[in-house]
Amino acid sequence: MMLTKRYLLGIDISTTGAKALLIDSQGTVVSSATTPMSLSTPHPLWSEQNPEDWWQGICASIRRVLTETGISGSEVAAIGLTGQMHGLVMLDDQGNVLRPAILWNDQRTGAQCDEIRARLGKQRLIQISGNDALTGFTAPKILWVQQNEPEVYKKCRHILLPKDYVRYKLTGTYAVDCADGAGTILFDLRQRTWSKEILTALDIPVEWMPATCEGSEISGYVSREGAAATGLAEGTPVAGGGGDQAAQATGVGAVKPGIVAVTLGTSGVVFATTPSALIEPEGRLHAFCHTIPGRWHFMGVMLSAAGSLQWYHDTLAADTSFETLLAEAEQVAVGSGGLLFLPYLTGERTPHPDPLARGAWVGLTIQHTRAHLTRAVLEGVAFGLRDSFTLIRQAGLGEIKEVRISGGGAKSPLWQQIIANVLGVELKTVNTTEGAAFGAALLGGVAVGLWQDVDSACECVIQVTGSTAPQPKAAAVYEEYYQTYRRLYPALRDICHTLST
Ligand code: XUL
Repeated sequence: MMLTKRYLLGIDISTTGAKALLIDSQGTVVSSATTPMSLSTPHPLWSEQNPEDWWQGICASIRRVLTETGISGSEVAAIGLTGQMHGLVMLDDQGNVLRPAILWNDQRTGAQCDEIRARLGKQRLIQISGNDALTGFTAPKILWVQQNEPEVYKKCRHILLPKDYVRYKLTGTYAVDCADGAGTILFDLRQRTWSKEILTALDIPVEWMPATCEGSEISGYVSREGAAATGLAEGTPVAGGGGDQAAQATGVGAVKPGIVAVTLGTSGVVFATTPSALIEPEGRLHAFCHTIPGRWHFMGVMLSAAGSLQWYHDTLAADTSFETLLAEAEQVAVGSGGLLFLPYLTGERTPHPDPLARGAWVGLTIQHTRAHLTRAVLEGVAFGLRDSFTLIRQAGLGEIKEVRISGGGAKSPLWQQIIANVLGVELKTVNTTEGAAFGAALLGGVAVGLWQDVDSACECVIQVTGSTAPQPKAAAVYEEYYQTYRRLYPALRDICHTLST
């Protein structure tokens, strides 16, 4: 990297904010700014955002990190993009947005998922894309627009994922990285590009799909318009980047088989790198490309992890700080006095792919206090992660050498301890706490040759900083509670379906 270009910019278009993160060539965080985003739910099960808000939001965040540090756009060597996966952005032939983006946590497409399975055959779909059709993924969303908004569909010429809309505004290029591309389930997982067979079966023109690239390849360069809007320099290289989960894993160094990443964000994720395009035969684990050429990953995703605690706080304890709620919960014994929480507040993906699954506290008595309710939420999320962790363990990936935990929820030592006890493994934390944006910035650095490859980048800047070991007594109690927790979904499934229809 030339001495005048000492910085890397990671951009993360998450569901809750548009974040710009500046790091230097040693991986030290220089500045970070986030413009908050909200989502709209115009109908039950719907979840949408306006792509133009992402663009305005990220322009503001980029300008802020540059202004506050006095760093000029021309000192930025490269940019890496990440963001919420699976969202559908549709553009017309002029690149204008045709409708609000339909997001990863939108659950309207149950019928379209059935139709995709019927058109391709579930097994064939899993064979090609590595995944079953789930409401969260992009393909059923496209089908939904095809069937419900034919006038929009008729005008469509380009399909993009959320961060790739920002790439388009920044560079004028229509492109997607393989990690995020695979999350559309329109990808041939092994070939790391669009599957003509799936696109044809769903009547989606292949010309609508963006060019594909690896996460650490240059996908385009900041255009004159992009530079004017952000304060960045025209011509700055923009790397492929990755969907937020693959970028998050990159940002904590989970890039090789044997290191598992657990992320406690709005969603909860258990992520394991695979050396080839492995597939879980029933599609219970997602199988996508990693940010690294020649590597893939499995992951289990629960939809409301830290999102459950956020909902609980906002709805039932808005006047109380998270710190107070967590301190109260710490006073309650393991098992929350016989209270279980089912965290399916927005339906679920792993291990129960069911948009109509619902949340619940089960076992309430007059003795339970707010502290019990809080602790039960923390424990219920940990049990949900255990479901995914078990599937990853059973996937035959060999020894799990290390489990690295990150994400907003992981800032709580209590929650970390509960998760270590429920999973029965030691959890490690690392020095890099800026998540997916950090991983994206590293990919930018690799794209311009600052590091030889992603492995070297991670080895250079990421170190383990702490660990939480499981406590045998508590782990034994949780083992029993977990067995009871597992019986809740089958017992409540039909009731939840009746209630939500
Ligand atoms: C992953 C997923 C979520 C979103 C959240 O499959 O849907 O983690 O990417 O931003």
